[in-house]
Amino acid sequence: MTNPSLLILAGDGIGPEVMAEVRKIIGWYDTKRGVTFDVSEDLVGGCAYDKHGTPLHDDTMAKAQEVDAVLLGAVGGPKYDALDFSVKPERGLLRLRKEMDLYANLRPAQCFDALADFSSLKKDVVAGLDIMIVRELTSGVYFGEPRGIFKEGNERVGINTQRYTESEIERVARSAFELARKRGNKLCSMEKANVMESGVLWREVVQRIGDTEYPDVELSHMYADAGAMQLTRWPKQFDVIVTDNLFGDLLSDLAAMLTGSLGMLPSASLGAPMANGRPKALYEPVHGSAPDIAGQGKANPIACILSFAMALRYSFDMGAEADRVEAAVAKVLADGLRTADLMGPEGGAPITTSQMGDAIVAALDASL
Ligand code: NAD
Ligand code: IPM
Ligand code: MN
Repeated sequence: MTNPSLLILAGDGIGPEVMAEVRKIIGWYDTKRGVTFDVSEDLVGGCAYDKHGTPLHDDTMAKAQEVDAVLLGAVGGPKYDALDFSVKPERGLLRLRKEMDLYANLRPAQCFDALADFSSLKKDVVAGLDIMIVRELTSGVYFGEPRGIFKEGNERVGINTQRYTESEIERVARSAFELARKRGNKLCSMEKANVMESGVLWREVVQRIGDTEYPDVELSHMYADAGAMQLTRWPKQFDVIVTDNLFGDLLSDLAAMLTGSLGMLPSASLGAPMANGRPKALYEPVHGSAPDIAGQGKANPIACILSFAMALRYSFDMGAEADRVEAAVAKVLADGLRTADLMGPEGGAPITTSQMGDAIVAALDASL
């Protein structure tokens, strides 16, 4: 049997720093568990632009299509902010999502017990929180046409188009219903059907899929603005949330703060099954390249490490090993180890990115 294959695209800013810690976990699986991944590495984002003049080379795109899973760090940075849209680092990531057709973006927000005190919300609001946001990732206003900045009379107009087909809504709704069935059996769909036609269609299609295919799952609908409010008021009312590309982007950053830090939130972007039965997949932290702390050893690698745990679960059918990695993270947090982003106003002594990775590896050792 051939080894499972991984393509690592560490990217820019803190991307390479947090990915170095994931490599330690991959190494641990090789030496301690006899699970060997064939790992290749390539460029994405600003670093790819610097080398090739494009944020994603065609060869890299082709490799991403072939491997069992892609692990991505982060892309972007101030150095590239003035670039033309077509070659911005973020476009590399958007191309991967679009061409791999990764339509279901799973963004779990789980509050580890040790961090319940640390959230900006009251402890009882977040303690034990475990919700899953399913964000549509390949359509909507991110990709709709027409788009651009055009001349209109004496001034310019910036245009983006929110566009959803029924089949695009159907497939992400099914992903969300399936997940709900494996969890608390509850799904809340969020859009703005009160002001957007795409929202009206979204609501209607999700309701139809629910009625016809998942009558056992408790389905509700909420306007996305009210959803943002409810997520901060009492997030534990939710189990699975399904929403579009833009609302999902916003709501998942909001949900990050329920868990304590953006440095905690992993994600899995999944598409249709490949010939080997595994879904097309890319795993990445929800956070970005964090230019303000890049190169200082301050980044929290947990979001990236938990993204690897999601790869174990969703691409490699190694749910028990994913549990092991998550338990190792819970243990180091319970032991009081904190990177700088997890320090309260009273301060303390943060550990570095690399020390956090080492501590998680030690916790994995202790789990054997
Ligand atoms: P960001 O997520 O990079 O940073 C927001 C804040 O959170 C910063 O203060 C940062 O220091 C902090 N932070 C983020 N991740 C952290 C971690 N792991 N540990 C500790 N602190 C962390 O968002 P931004 O500043 O709005 O964007 C910076 C760049 O990243 C932009 O170019 C943006 O387009 C890009 N971006 C990329 C991705 C991605 O690659 N998936 C996601 C979001 C933003
Ligand atoms: C995310 C990011 C991306 C998005 C950017 C970098 C393209 O914010 O993954 O959440 O907007 O989807
Ligand atoms: Mn985002």
